[in-house]
Amino acid sequence: MRYAATALGPLLLLILVQFSQQATEQGDSRDYYVGAVVEFAPYVDRKDGQATLRNNVQQYANFTKLAKQQGADIIVFPEDGLTSYHMPSKSQLDPWTTVIPAPEEEYVPCTGNRENVSHALKELSCAALANSIYLVANIAEKECCLHAHEEEYSVDAPIYHNTNVVFDRTGKIIARYRKVNLYDEKAFDVVQPPEIVTFDTDFGVKFGTFICFDISFSVPALNLTRQLGVRDFVYTTAWFSEAPFLTAVQIQYGWSRSQDANMLVAGYHNPTAGSTGSGIYLGTGGIADAIFSGDSQSRLLVARVPKKTPGSESPPKMEGNAIPSSDRVLENCYKMNTSAESVAGVYIMRDNLAQFETVPLKETTFNQTVCHGTFCCDFHAVKASDGNETSSIYRAVVYNGCRFYGASVQAGIRVCALTQCSNDSVASCGVVKPSSVTFNEIRITTTVRDPANILAYPSALNSSLLPFERWTYSEKQETSENATARFTIALEKPTSDVSTFGIYMRDFDRTVSSAPELFGLSGIILPILMSAFHLLANNRL
Ligand SMILES: *[C@@H]1O[C@H](CO)[C@@H](O)[C@H](O)[C@H]1NC(C)=O
Ligand SMILES: *[C@@H]1O[C@H](CO)[C@@H](O)[C@H](O)[C@H]1NC(C)=O
Ligand SMILES: *[C@@H]1O[C@H](CO)[C@@H](O)[C@H](O)[C@H]1NC(C)=O
Ligand SMILES: *[C@@H]1O[C@H](CO)[C@@H](O)[C@H](O)[C@H]1NC(C)=O
Ligand SMILES: *[C@@H]1O[C@H](CO)[C@@H](O)[C@H](O)[C@H]1NC(C)=O
Ligand SMILES: *[C@@H]1O[C@H](CO)[C@@H](O)[C@H](O)[C@H]1NC(C)=O
Ligand SMILES: *[C@@H]1O[C@H](CO)[C@@H](O)[C@H](O)[C@H]1NC(C)=O
Ligand SMILES: *[C@@H]1O[C@H](CO)[C@@H](O)[C@H](O)[C@H]1NC(C)=O
Repeated sequence: MRYAATALGPLLLLILVQFSQQATEQGDSRDYYVGAVVEFAPYVDRKDGQATLRNNVQQYANFTKLAKQQGADIIVFPEDGLTSYHMPSKSQLDPWTTVIPAPEEEYVPCTGNRENVSHALKELSCAALANSIYLVANIAEKECCLHAHEEEYSVDAPIYHNTNVVFDRTGKIIARYRKVNLYDEKAFDVVQPPEIVTFDTDFGVKFGTFICFDISFSVPALNLTRQLGVRDFVYTTAWFSEAPFLTAVQIQYGWSRSQDANMLVAGYHNPTAGSTGSGIYLGTGGIADAIFSGDSQSRLLVARVPKKTPGSESPPKMEGNAIPSSDRVLENCYKMNTSAESVAGVYIMRDNLAQFETVPLKETTFNQTVCHGTFCCDFHAVKASDGNETSSIYRAVVYNGCRFYGASVQAGIRVCALTQCSNDSVASCGVVKPSSVTFNEIRITTTVRDPANILAYPSALNSSLLPFERWTYSEKQETSENATARFTIALEKPTSDVSTFGIYMRDFDRTVSSAPELFGLSGIILPILMSAFHLLANNRL
């Protein structure tokens, strides 16, 4: 750095020297930071929000101390980890919530004394302060009523958010992010307009943050990567895994890899309901550590995270025309099957591939273009000839259309993948079990005409419900008259135990949110009232 500076003139030298002095004071000379995540199984007393919060926050404090002993700079706890996801309905929610002062107020709950800031929020702040660590937690937030003139709310229900809060090493609130893409969470309100939240650290890394279902949407996650160039993320989740494309670690690593972003992911642990999966992901640098487990334990993961060099190797911006897709085959969205199975103690839902175009891999070598309507994927796969071909069956599966997520969200998806089946029926595909087949080669490619609308997750899964490694993935934007992009995923070496391998895409052009609450009072009227109110408040200042 100094060498470069001498060549670049005195002004830049001055800036660099100041920067590096500051850096040394703050320990920023390292080319890595130490991240910690907790896969957390919350205590819950459904009748007593305060007791639930008290118990869990004490466990958080204990984990924070352990993480600090292992050198962590930042620790992340999962979505709903303090309250559990067994919260009561909105009318009963108040004791489970807290007011969270805005970061601009530079408030330190540990030493402050504000009304309506909960004991839990104070204790989190104290844990960050006592251990001199950045701490990220998710908590049910009550939007602050402090400045509210009651008559300006024509509705008497308070506003609640599913919120990530970030404390710095002094226990100060430095970020507050309210979940944008709620997943059938009726007690919570959507925030309008969506907030794109980042925070800076004394180790020179800027983080973005988002929550659970947000990973499947463009706003705010892709605003952070594609528009702001953020390369490090803290992500809280309480996921319900679905085979063969949407299991927790598979989708987390897929996002990290496609965006080439470091990602600290803390997952809620309740495997009998399908919730497990946490990790520390390094984008193209691989998986530092990950867990997907059917046992009943909370678990702390700590790993070094190499800093991404700004600007270098950043993922393609995927700009270009948002060409309305004329490739649509199906406008009717398919629903998930209720079928599910227990895999090593984890409840796993199964995708419904009935409307997919599928071709079985019968021969040792499979070279075929498979299309669903006009959307096509090129497959090249070579099985080792010594595989037991009667015991492990695979299909190439392709889809371009839409599906339901939960009860109310319809989302555009495209899929190009190989997936494991247990017999010749398509309904048996998506099964996750050990396989006796070794693939010497697999390469899958596809081209999209509207890359700005697409988020692709490279998708790999083995029978441990973890993404196997040693494959390459690329998104190449082709500059022609119309923006197109070519996506390719390929094995780097012969691989056994493949459950899924391919590319799973979200197509934002087709997302429809038919959530009825969006059209209700809390979704539309309140934000309008609130922005009117903020205008008033700002004018007064
Ligand atoms: C946290 O640690 C303290 C001291 O080691 C212990 O007494 C307490 O039981 C722990 N609390 C929880 C909730 O695990
Ligand atoms: C605390 O909450 C109560 C009940 O919602 C409200 O009436 C009061 O104004 C709040 N106080 C502050 C300081 O926000
Ligand atoms: C986020 O990105 C979307 C396009 O994907 C854009 O419409 C929106 O304005 C962006 N939001 C912000 C706050 O930048
Ligand atoms: C192949 O798998 C089938 C079914 O699992 C099994 O019955 C058979 O013995 C296996 N053959 C070899 C050669 O391993
Ligand atoms: C899913 O449901 C469809 C009908 O909607 C059915 O044809 C298919 O067999 C089901 N798949 C599984 C895995 O049960
Ligand atoms: C195929 O496997 C499914 C379970 O995945 C089972 O329900 C079905 O009966 C099997 N079909 C045949 C023809 O064996
Ligand atoms: C699945 O992949 C993970 C991560 O690469 C690896 O640790 C694990 O051993 C693999 N499991 C099997 C059964 O191959
Ligand atoms: C570009 O897109 C336009 C409109 O969709 C189409 O008419 C034209 O043929 C495309 N050009 C190329 C080179 O694909």
